[in-house]
Amino acid sequence: MKLRSQRWFDNPENPGMTALYIERYLNYGITREELQSGKPIIGIAQTGSDLSPCNRHHLELAKRVRDGIVASGGICFEFPVHPIQETGKRPTAMLDRNLAYLGLVETLYGYPLDGVVLAIGCDKTTPALLMAAATVDIPAIALSVGPMLNGWHNGKRAGSGTAIWAARQELAAGRIDYEEFMNVASASAPSVGFCNTMGTASTMNSLAEALGMQIAGSAAIPAPYRERGQMAYQTGRRIVEMVHADRKPSDIMTQKAFENAIVVNSAIGGSTNAPIHLIGVAQYLGLELTNEDWQRLGHKIPLLVDMQPAGQYLGEDFHRAGGVPGVISELLKAGVLPHPDAITVTGETVAEAYANASVSDHEVIRPYGQPVMQDAGFLALKGNLFDTAIMKTSVISEEFRTRYLSNPDDPEAFEGRAIVFEGPEAYHDRIDDPALEIDPSCILVIRGVGPIGYPGGAEVVNMQPPAELIQQGITAMPCIGDGRQSGTSGSPSILNASPEAAAMGGLALVRTGDRIRVDLKLGTANMLVDEAELSRRRTALEAEGGFAYPDHQTPWQEIQRGMVDQFDKGMVLKPAVKYQRIVKTKGMPRDN
Ligand code: FES
Ligand code: MG
Repeated sequence: MKLRSQRWFDNPENPGMTALYIERYLNYGITREELQSGKPIIGIAQTGSDLSPCNRHHLELAKRVRDGIVASGGICFEFPVHPIQETGKRPTAMLDRNLAYLGLVETLYGYPLDGVVLAIGCDKTTPALLMAAATVDIPAIALSVGPMLNGWHNGKRAGSGTAIWAARQELAAGRIDYEEFMNVASASAPSVGFCNTMGTASTMNSLAEALGMQIAGSAAIPAPYRERGQMAYQTGRRIVEMVHADRKPSDIMTQKAFENAIVVNSAIGGSTNAPIHLIGVAQYLGLELTNEDWQRLGHKIPLLVDMQPAGQYLGEDFHRAGGVPGVISELLKAGVLPHPDAITVTGETVAEAYANASVSDHEVIRPYGQPVMQDAGFLALKGNLFDTAIMKTSVISEEFRTRYLSNPDDPEAFEGRAIVFEGPEAYHDRIDDPALEIDPSCILVIRGVGPIGYPGGAEVVNMQPPAELIQQGITAMPCIGDGRQSGTSGSPSILNASPEAAAMGGLALVRTGDRIRVDLKLGTANMLVDEAELSRRRTALEAEGGFAYPDHQTPWQEIQRGMVDQFDKGMVLKPAVKYQRIVKTKGMPRDN
C-alpha cells in the first residue's frame, strides 16, 4: 500500500512538487532517505501548552510517544492544536471546541500525515480531536494526559471543581474567608494533569477508551505516574501498526462503540457534557445518536464508580482500583455491555482487550450487584419548555430527594414558581434580592446561555440557592437552563435544553412567577401556562426581533453563531456534517 505521505515526499510522477515538498522538511536535520523510505509519518496533535495547563504534560509525554513511533518504524511530526483550556478561556472553552476541530481537520487533511496521535485531556480537547479524526478518517489513536494526583485539604480529599463548589457555599454562608477559599482551590490541583474528579475530562477520557480509541487502561493513569509515560510509548508503537493495518476512526467509532460508551458513562457517573460531545462525534461519522438513546441505553445502568462529584474518591483511587478496564470487566461479567464485539485500536474486540481486566478495590469500583446507586444514567425530558433536555439523576442527594421528590401522592414530580434569570450576570446580581421572595419551593431558571445565546453554551445551570437559604441548610434547588453545567458539579439540574431561548425554544417564553411542573416518571417539564398565552408571548417576542442576546465580540463568535447546531445535535457546525471520511470521499487535496 502506498502511504498518503508519499504523495508529498516520493511522487516520481511529479518530481518538481516532490522537491518542493521535501526540501523544507529537511531543514532541521531530517534526511531525504528517511522521508523517502516509505515509513509512515505520524502526527502528534499536541494540545499541551502554558495556556492549557491540564494538557501541558503532553509536552513531556510526546517524547515517549515519539520513541514508540520510531521504535515501530515510523517518523514523528508533532504540531500544535488551537488551545482549549476549560477554566481559563472566556467566555467559555466550549466556544473553541469547534474552532479547534476545524483547524485540526485542515491540518490532518492538508499535510503529509498517515496517522495521528490525539493528545487528549482537558474537557473539550477530547471531543475536538475525536471529531477531527472522525471527519478526516486517517488512522488515529488517543492518548490521555491523565488526571492530577488526588488533592487533599485538612485531611480530606479535595477534588477539582467539586471542592470549589463546596467551598463557595461555605464562603457564601460566611463560614470560611477568602484566604481559606483560595487554599481549598489550590489544594485541589496538586500536580500536572486534568481534573481528578469524574468531571468532563475524566468522563471524556474514559469514553475515548470505551469507544475503543485508546489502548485499554489508558484513560485513568494519573499524569505523573510512570505508567503514563509507558502508555505514551505503547501508544506511539500502536499507531504505526494501525497505519499498516489501515484501521481508521470509522472502523472503531461505530454505532456499537457509541452504545458501549453510553453504558460505560452511566457506570462511571459521567458528565452531562458527554451526550453533547458524543452526539457531536457521531454526527461527523454519519451516525444518529439522541438524548433518548442515552436514556434508553444508559438510564437503568447502575453507578459503579464511587468518585466525586457523585461519590467520594478521586482519580488516583479510580486508577488503582482498576480504572476503565475494571468498570468494563464488571459490565462484561454482568452481560450488560451491549457490544463486546466492537473493535478497538489494537484490532482486538472489547471482549478480547479486556479479557484479563479486573477490579482490585471494590470500595472504589463496586461489583455490578452492589452499586453506589441504581439507575445512574441520564433522563431525557421534554415539554413546552424545550424539545429535549437531560438530567443526571445520580447526583440527586437525599436532601433534594426528600424535599422535592417524596410527595406520596406524586412521588417523582415537583411543581414550583419560576424565578427566571437572563444569564449568569443577572443571576449573580439578583439571587439574594429579597424582592424575588425566593423560597425552597421555587425553581431557578437560567436562559440565554446556550450555543448561540452565550455564545458557546456556558456552564452555569448549577445555580446555588440564595445565601439565606444556604444558611438554613438548603444546598440545592431545582435548576433548569439552556446552558450546560460543569461535570464536576453535583447539582441535579435539567440542562442542555434544546432548542435554546436564543433559537426561540420554549424557555424564551417563561416568566418569573409562572408555575413549572417537572415529572421524572413521565419525563416531562412544562410551564403551566395555557397555549393561547404562550402563543401571545411568542408573537410579542417575535415582534421585538426575537430573544435578545449580547453582540458578537470576535469574528469566530459571529461565524459560529451563524452555523452552530443545538446541544441535542452535538453543537456541531451544521455545514461541516456532510464532510465525512474525507480522505476517502474527497481524495487528495490539489497540489500546493
Ligand atoms: Fe481542564 Fe478540568 S479544567 S480538565
Ligand atoms: Mg467544564
